[in-house]
Amino acid sequence: MRAEVTVIGLDGGVPGEEARTALGRARFAAGAARHLDAVAPHLPAGAERRTLGALGPVLDELAEWDGPAVVLASGDPGFFGVLRALRERGAEPAAVLPAVSSVAGAFARIGLPWDDAVVVSAHGRAESGRSAHRALAAALAHPKAAVLTAPGTAGPEAFLPALVAAGRLVYVAQRLGGPGEAVRAVGPQDAGRTDWAHPNVVLAVDPERAVAPAVAWMPGHQGAPDGWALPEEAFAHRDSMISKAEVRAVALARLAPRPGTEVWDIGAGSGSVAVECARFGARAVAFEAAARDCERIRANARAHRVYVEVREGRVPDSLPGRAAPDAVFLGGGGDAAAAACVRRFRPGRVVAALASVDRIRTVHDLLAAEGYRVGGTQVQASRLAPLPNGSLRFAAANPVTLLWGTAGPGGPGETGPAGIEERWR
Ligand SMILES: C[S@@+](CC[C@H](N)C(=O)[O-])C[C@H]1O[C@@H](n2cnc3c(N)ncnc32)[C@H](O)[C@@H]1O
Repeated sequence: MRAEVTVIGLDGGVPGEEARTALGRARFAAGAARHLDAVAPHLPAGAERRTLGALGPVLDELAEWDGPAVVLASGDPGFFGVLRALRERGAEPAAVLPAVSSVAGAFARIGLPWDDAVVVSAHGRAESGRSAHRALAAALAHPKAAVLTAPGTAGPEAFLPALVAAGRLVYVAQRLGGPGEAVRAVGPQDAGRTDWAHPNVVLAVDPERAVAPAVAWMPGHQGAPDGWALPEEAFAHRDSMISKAEVRAVALARLAPRPGTEVWDIGAGSGSVAVECARFGARAVAFEAAARDCERIRANARAHRVYVEVREGRVPDSLPGRAAPDAVFLGGGGDAAAAACVRRFRPGRVVAALASVDRIRTVHDLLAAEGYRVGGTQVQASRLAPLPNGSLRFAAANPVTLLWGTAGPGGPGETGPAGIEERWR
């Protein structure tokens, strides 16, 4: 690229001196219509102007351009912005002049620090529906989130109902720094609105953790929790109806909960699996028939300071019509629940915990027939325990069979046909 490119970020303020100099020299200017309008007084009359839309053709043209050029972008061009596309094509800008990012601007408008926030982009190429799913999962799992929305399937309406239902303080920050700027708090009564002005950023804040007491040192999700496969005592539970820690360890490894994924805990009981998935940063949904258990799941989630969505009712009747879980843990609900979850939603990963020998063949064949690679193990743990005389013994726990199905390449599946790999992206 022979062009001498200056990348200029805009946030509604007056461009600085360096930006004005670059604009005044530019023979070529590319940017969104609103950005070209904003800098029009600074551009020479004869400068070529290209309106972005699609980035590719304009960057192709820029690659052939010889002479001073400017590329205009919103906020910080290096933060989910045009700078990546430029560098991917080998361009080395002469200068990058960032403005205030829309995320920084939006949090400033509501007066909250954001060094503890997770920032997610719902922009995606072919699969923006998938991008929105991923962004919502991450936003729900974290106490403070900013979502960079995209018009269409990833606009605010894709996020607001679930974020409001989760009890978050939710805001839509529209057209920051531009004419028509509006930052609106969203409650249950307007969570279904669809008439938001673009561009916009959605903010979602857990009211109890709007200001984290500890000084944040690393933005976003904090990585793996400080402990997992937690002991049963870490959860309130009924009559030992809880997946034992050793079983949960293998199940969690196969479920692979992490930010951007949605994990279902079917027949959740104490909700220990759902809570642990949420601790890893996944959006966790617990399906449980007994009302008392649902209360206990909520209490366990609160005690661990995570959000778990609880759906009361018998599976499969209580399953939603449309959903796209990434992983499903089958802890209860029997074969009917297993068949419904696998056939209807085709999650990338399925893990079943089976105490009954009779069900092993049935669940194995279900997964294999649906094209999953199937693996399994029997977990028979013996825990170290004291004897009254001070010596040690091993106390055997009941064996549990774990079966898992994996839909894509590189997963842990061990037998069965490889299939439906295109879903694992
Ligand atoms: C490709 S990202 C660019 C982010 C940009 N680099 C920044 O630092 O703000 C585009 C998204 O940023 C957000 N955005 C950009 N400009 C905005 C504005 N003026 N008001 C509200 N949101 C804005 C919207 O979520 C939009 O979909």
